[in-house]
Amino acid sequence: MMKNYSANEGRYKQMPYRRCGKSGILLPAISLGLWHNFGDVDVYNNSRQMLLTAFDNGICNIDLANNYGPPPGSAEETFGRIFKDDLRSYRDELFVSTKACHEMWPGPYGEWGSRKHMLASLDQSLKRMNLDYVDVFYSHRYDPNTPLEETVSALVQAVKTGKALYVAISKYPVDAAEKIMVLLREAGVPCLIDQLRYSMLVRDAEKDLFELHRKEGVGCISFSPLAQGVLTEKYLNGIPEGSRAAKESGFLKVNQVLPLIEKVKSLHNIALDRGQTLAQMAIAWQLTDDRVTSVLIGTSSPTQIHENLKALNNLQFTREELDKIDQIVNTPPFWNFSA
Ligand SMILES: NC(=O)c1ccc[n+]([C@@H]2O[C@H](COP(=O)([O-])OP(=O)(O)OC[C@H]3O[C@@H](n4cnc5c(N)ncnc54)[C@H](OP(=O)(O)O)[C@@H]3O)[C@@H](O)[C@H]2O)c1
Repeated sequence: MMKNYSANEGRYKQMPYRRCGKSGILLPAISLGLWHNFGDVDVYNNSRQMLLTAFDNGICNIDLANNYGPPPGSAEETFGRIFKDDLRSYRDELFVSTKACHEMWPGPYGEWGSRKHMLASLDQSLKRMNLDYVDVFYSHRYDPNTPLEETVSALVQAVKTGKALYVAISKYPVDAAEKIMVLLREAGVPCLIDQLRYSMLVRDAEKDLFELHRKEGVGCISFSPLAQGVLTEKYLNGIPEGSRAAKESGFLKVNQVLPLIEKVKSLHNIALDRGQTLAQMAIAWQLTDDRVTSVLIGTSSPTQIHENLKALNNLQFTREELDKIDQIVNTPPFWNFSA
């Protein structure tokens, strides 16, 4: 059964594809990230079903990083196994990214933005993923101690050696983001996209980064658009077993979730009036905004992918709905990054 996967040819019919900045690339309105639920600690067949469900529904942009797991590297290995068994013949239909810069192996070269780390990490990632090249290679975070010119030289080399088609950044503060975008453009390898945290609950990008993207012609992909599950119905009655907040290996803490529940209930009421789930409304809300190229979701089951895809059925918001959402999210308590 596992070997007989055959992609559904109609998979591009429902998904809108949006231009990524001023590049030639179109990205699906919804992308899938493999940060959680694709590691060695997870059930392989569930990971496989999620990836194939995504691909079969037009989600051709698949986001990885060297350190996704746990353990670090294992999400890339899981992807590599599914790719080899099921998706190799669809390589040209897939847009796959990986990243380097977060802590990956011991010693002074196992993280940050040096040429040494970035290029060694990319080679390791390609092996784990069973790929000859990635579509996008990201600098996963800003390194204040390495000259940006050095990180740029590694990104440019990745493209010039054919190991990546495009390069990108993630979580850079606005000044460093602007500087690296200019350096990359001047080197003839423009930054394709900026990956940043953005959701109804975390709106920092609205201050300055969206404007920078517009000025530089760079796309934007929003990670944790459901605030890791907080913007769903999941936590309305506490912390369910098996949820990300309940898991030791997860990055969502119970004390980040609980203070926000009343606020989430108010948002849920708006979603109900719209005939959507809260997750669908949270995704649709981002897609009304053309400053977001693609919404990068995570999931723990194929059902969640099917449910979240239904966000595409209602992307229209009234001014009153948008104002109500703003009023709710702009009232304390706010998302606690240090919890
Ligand atoms: N660049 C960076 O530094 C960075 C950082 C973080 C993430 N990312 C990328 O962004 C991707 C997405 O981030 P994320 O996983 O935090 O995204 P998210 O979409 O905000 O949260 C995903 C979680 O929400 C829950 N969920 C999703 N759909 C649901 C539904 N219909 N009903 C109920 N619960 C639902 C699931 O939690 P349960 O597991 O509890 O079911 C799922 O694991 C990552 O995989 C990664 O590729 C990048």
